Order: sequence, then C-alpha cells, then structure tokens
Amino acid sequence: MEEIKKYFIKTYGCQMNVHESEKLAGMLVSLGYTECSNEKDADVIVFNTCCIRDGAEQKVFGNVGALKKLKKSKPNLIVAICGCMTQQKDRVEIFKEKFKFVNIIFGTHNLNQFKNYLIEYNKTHKNLYEVWDNEKEIDENVEMYRTSKLNAWVNIMYGCNNFCSYCIVPYVRGRERSRNMQDIVEEVKGLIKEGYKVITLLGQNVNSYGNDINDKNVTFANLLKEISMLDGDFRLKFMTSHPKDLTDEVIDVIANSPKISKAIHLPVQSGSSKILKSMNRKYTREHYLELVKKIKAKIPDVFLTTDIIVGFPGETDEDFNETISLVKEVNYGGVFGFMYSKRTGTVAETMPDQIPDDIKHKRVNELLNLSKSMIKEQNKLLVGKTLEVLIEEQKDDGTFVGVTDSGKNVVINENVNVATYYNAKVDAIVGNKLIAKIVK
Ligand code: SAH
Ligand code: SF4
Ligand code: F3S
Repeated sequence: MEEIKKYFIKTYGCQMNVHESEKLAGMLVSLGYTECSNEKDADVIVFNTCCIRDGAEQKVFGNVGALKKLKKSKPNLIVAICGCMTQQKDRVEIFKEKFKFVNIIFGTHNLNQFKNYLIEYNKTHKNLYEVWDNEKEIDENVEMYRTSKLNAWVNIMYGCNNFCSYCIVPYVRGRERSRNMQDIVEEVKGLIKEGYKVITLLGQNVNSYGNDINDKNVTFANLLKEISMLDGDFRLKFMTSHPKDLTDEVIDVIANSPKISKAIHLPVQSGSSKILKSMNRKYTREHYLELVKKIKAKIPDVFLTTDIIVGFPGETDEDFNETISLVKEVNYGGVFGFMYSKRTGTVAETMPDQIPDDIKHKRVNELLNLSKSMIKEQNKLLVGKTLEVLIEEQKDDGTFVGVTDSGKNVVINENVNVATYYNAKVDAIVGNKLIAKIVK
C-alpha cells in the first residue's frame, strides 16, 4: 500500500492569507495529501508569508532557516514558499541564496498554480521558482479546504489601489479586482447550507467592491443587502473598511439587517490630520470623527475596532497625543497598534524625520495600555446585559465556550448545542471572559 503523504502549512499575516492557505490546502488534499499538525511529520511544508512589517519577514526567515536540519535528515521533504514576501524580487533572491533547500517558490498572483508546480516537482525533482509580476483575471475554479467549522472566509475582491504611503500591499497584491456578485452570493449560499455560522467577506478595502465592474448595481451595499437576505441562521462580517469609502448606504444596510455583524473594523491609522495626509489616507481627523458619530447614531450597539501606526515619519509628541485623544473619543472596543516599519519601494521609505525605535516602543506601549484599560471598563458595563452568543465548543470540564458578535469569549455552564446562537445574560467577568447564563 502506498503511504499517505502529509502536508503542513504555516501561515503568516492577515485573514486574506489564512483564507489563501485554505486554497493551498484544497490543492494538496485534491492530490491525496492529508494535513498533519507537526512539521516534523510532513512530506510537504508550505510557508505562506507576509511582508507587512519587518518583524513579519524576520519571523519567516527564522522559521524557514530552522528547517535546514529537518531537510537534511529528510531529503525527500518538499519545502515551498509563497505569499506576499515572494512578490518582492530581492526576497526571492535571499531565499534562493541563503536557503538552497527550498524547492518551490511562487507568489500571490500564481497561487492557484501550486498544484501544477507540485505535480511537476514530484516528477522532475528540480527546484521550481516562478513568481508572476502582475495580477491575472480572477480564477473561480478553486478547491478549498476550510479549516474552521463555524467561520468561513469569502474573498470578494483582491488587491488594493490606495497606496497608503507606508504600505507594501498594493505592490505585492496588485490592483483591485472584484469578484462577480452572483459568484459570491452562490458561494455564501453553499456555505450557509453546509452549516457555517459566521461568514466574513474579505478584501483590502471592501468598500470599493465593484468599482472595477461596469455595472452600477454591483456595490458593496448591494452585496451586503443580497447576502443578508439569504435564509439561514448566520451572521455576516467583513473586513477591512477604508474610512474614506464607507458610504451612508452601507451604514444603513448594516443598521437595518439583524444578520449583519455590528462589529466594524475601521482603521484610522493616526489621529493627526497632518500625519494622515502624509500617509495618503485621504481623510482628516475631523472627517473620521464625523463618520464615527454618524455610525454610532445609526447603529447604537456598534463595536468599533481600529488599526493604528505609531512612529510614522514626522510624528511628533503632539501628533501622537492627537491619536490618543481620538482613541479616547471614539472609545474603541479594541485597538491594534503597530510600530511603523519602513517598507522598500513605498513613498514613506524616503521620508525625512524617521522616528527612533525607543520612541516607537514608548508610544505603542502607551496606546496598547490605554486600549487594555478601555476594554476593561467596557467589559464591566456588560454585566447584567443580554448578548447574542454563538456556542463554539464544549470543554473537557463540561462547560461550553462561545463568542459574542464582538469576538468576546463567553463561558456557559449549562447544556447547550454547539454551532447555535443563544441569548445569554452576563453574570460576571473573569479575566477577559464573560460568564453568562442562557436567557430562555
Ligand atoms: N487593507 C487594510 C489593512 C491591511 S494591513 C486597511 O487598509 O485597513 C493591516 C494593518 O497593518 C494596517 O491597517 C496598518 O495599521 C498596518 N500596517 C501596514 N503597513 C505598515 C507598516 N509599514 N508599518 C507598520 N504597520 C503597518
Ligand atoms: Fe495598505 Fe492602505 Fe491598501 Fe490598506 S488601504 S492595504 S493600508 S495601501
Ligand atoms: Fe496580508 Fe501581510 Fe500580505 S497583511 S496582504 S499577508 S503583506
């Protein structure tokens, strides 16, 4: 009997990559491979990489380097690298030179070719490096192996046209391409039928969905509307929203549909209009705060989260304090804070007044501590409130754990059904978990 071959995929970066790893897994499964949980057992190891910050890239270099020994003891092991990092030519050169044991390299634009590359490699045993410079038409013919039973990710668009001055994504992901609306709706229908409870629409800027399609009915608002009218007990999420393109119509659709999540991730990046301008974000502090006011008025139970970059070139203490004051004013449910990281080829790379690391560290710590204390205060206010909870699993001790629309973990000490939505009243907060009782 032929031995069953195993694969291990290591994913770095955003939800987009997590979902693309499901496509890689789909291709591997279709070739007869099965997943394994330890890279030591694998016959194929794939690194799906991210280059958003230097730290992400260093992690990849470290982890790929660490495979050298394994590969020596297991010469038939196939090592593949793909993702955003390999869209940069100089990074591919580093992989080729420093990590000669890597067998297959491909990029984001030819991800769907992985299956062919693997078949070819298995035939020839010759290293295969192929990265396409430009995006191609969207390929709807993808096999997927979804890794979560309750959450399903659905791409609605690829690429980004925004060129925020700090960001590498437009260079490694190409221009915006929207999927056909009917293809998306059909995919979501199938997922609901299969029992998925949370559907998350993915794009670098979902609000510009349809801008590249010559049909004025293909808009993000209409897509949300259509999906939210489908039958089934599911909730619809999306990420990420660019504040400059979030329309009143989208806000209204969210406000009026019980199936659309009220958790909105709305990255602000900075609270200083001066910095926003040099980031090329195309909105001001005032515009953003107005937008938040509008959202809160129409969606009173909204749960807003954000991304912030500290230490962008030219950021003074005053600029940073404006960020802190904006965070307090919006009262975010969560803040993802990042230290600015210089990316090759971006506009900000050559900007003057780059900020020293110690100041970046100090600022990011202040920001994250503020966020932590805000979350603590907000959690206190949840005691006594009734929230919708999706039960995810039963623990060994018999208790159930679930998750709220806003992503907070909930412990339920009663008999409930997994993969089901309940209303539950919060009794207490322990650490960052909510202890709740089902409301009958
Ligand atoms: N498309 C999404 C974000 C994708 S990247 C959006 O526009 O909101 C995720 C986050 O990484 C960004 O929101 C930003 O806060 C951060 N980021 C991007 N480039 C960065 C850089 N060069 N240094 C530090 N953080 C960065
Ligand atoms: Fe990067 Fe800006 Fe595009 Fe987001 S919108 S991916 S931050 S360039
Ligand atoms: Fe995502 Fe990182 Fe690429 S954040 S789009 S995997 S650079």
